[in-house]
Amino acid sequence: MTSTGLQLLITALTGSLPDDDGSSFWMPPQVSTVAQGVDWLFNFILAISVFFFLLIVVVMVIFVIKYRHREGQGAEESSSHNMALEVIWTGIPVVLVMMIFVFGFKGFLDMATPPSNAYEILVEGQKWNWSFTYPNGYIDSDLHVPVDRPIRLVMGSQDVIHSLYIPAFRVKMDVVPGRYSKAWFEATKPGEYDLFCAEYCGTSHSDMIAHVIVHPVGEFETWLEKASNFLETMTPVDAGRKLFQVRGCQQCHSVDGSAKTGPSLLGIFGRQQNFADGSTTTVDENYIRQSVLEPQARVVAGFEPVMPTYQGRLSDPEIMAIIEYFKSLDGASSEE
Ligand code: CUA
Repeated sequence: MTSTGLQLLITALTGSLPDDDGSSFWMPPQVSTVAQGVDWLFNFILAISVFFFLLIVVVMVIFVIKYRHREGQGAEESSSHNMALEVIWTGIPVVLVMMIFVFGFKGFLDMATPPSNAYEILVEGQKWNWSFTYPNGYIDSDLHVPVDRPIRLVMGSQDVIHSLYIPAFRVKMDVVPGRYSKAWFEATKPGEYDLFCAEYCGTSHSDMIAHVIVHPVGEFETWLEKASNFLETMTPVDAGRKLFQVRGCQQCHSVDGSAKTGPSLLGIFGRQQNFADGSTTTVDENYIRQSVLEPQARVVAGFEPVMPTYQGRLSDPEIMAIIEYFKSLDGASSEE
């Protein structure tokens, strides 16, 4: 089998002219070491499916017309057996499915076995955001990685099943509560790519989006060091704003007064808060701290008790920064 011949067949059948970057009608550019193999097998199976679909439907239509019922004509005696035909229609599919099995199994093993020198990043899915923990403990809402280096993701979920999907890398893996799942990839080109949740996980499933930033050689370490020191280098308000953005708060809480899954935080500090149980309080530092660590303790009236706890996931200095940021959201000085 010549690969150019097969490529031509695939191109003709799928209309997906592979560009230089490996993008096609179906998929974004290929930006990982496994992407080409995944696409090749996908196109191979697609081409076979299209070919046999057309063959069967066309022959069926021809036969329906050719052998339709005519006046005064009975059914002819059909032959019961045709050795040559049966060998062909058994042999060709066997070869095709064996090819799919061999290429698929080889690709599966490659994708299931990370190289031993892989750089490890912890991934946590929760309703409805991603957080990525780097080896030094820094947590970000986007996945930053160095180019040309194998990355192993160790993934867990706080609540329900999510699925981490990076189309440009052709990587997709379920993220399941109560156990760890793993995925690995090696990005081949610096740039910014999409990361989606590919498992329906509730109301804001479609907002569970992050970016993958592939850093050029040597720049990842610089980024990580700079990003990790934000509590020291930023003002508390700016650090709080950053935490609010990267730790998933903004998926559910607006700062412009509009209600999302949770109440808006515009003008939160000092306002009267009514709770589902009928009680009321004035929002101060202690209330905010409790809401972050024990979100179900007092649920704001009109909202579902869906917020996950940040107990053990935000340090005291980080909670202080967030409180300072909330104080700045008084509606007058906030530009957002
Ligand atoms: Cu998480 Cu869909």
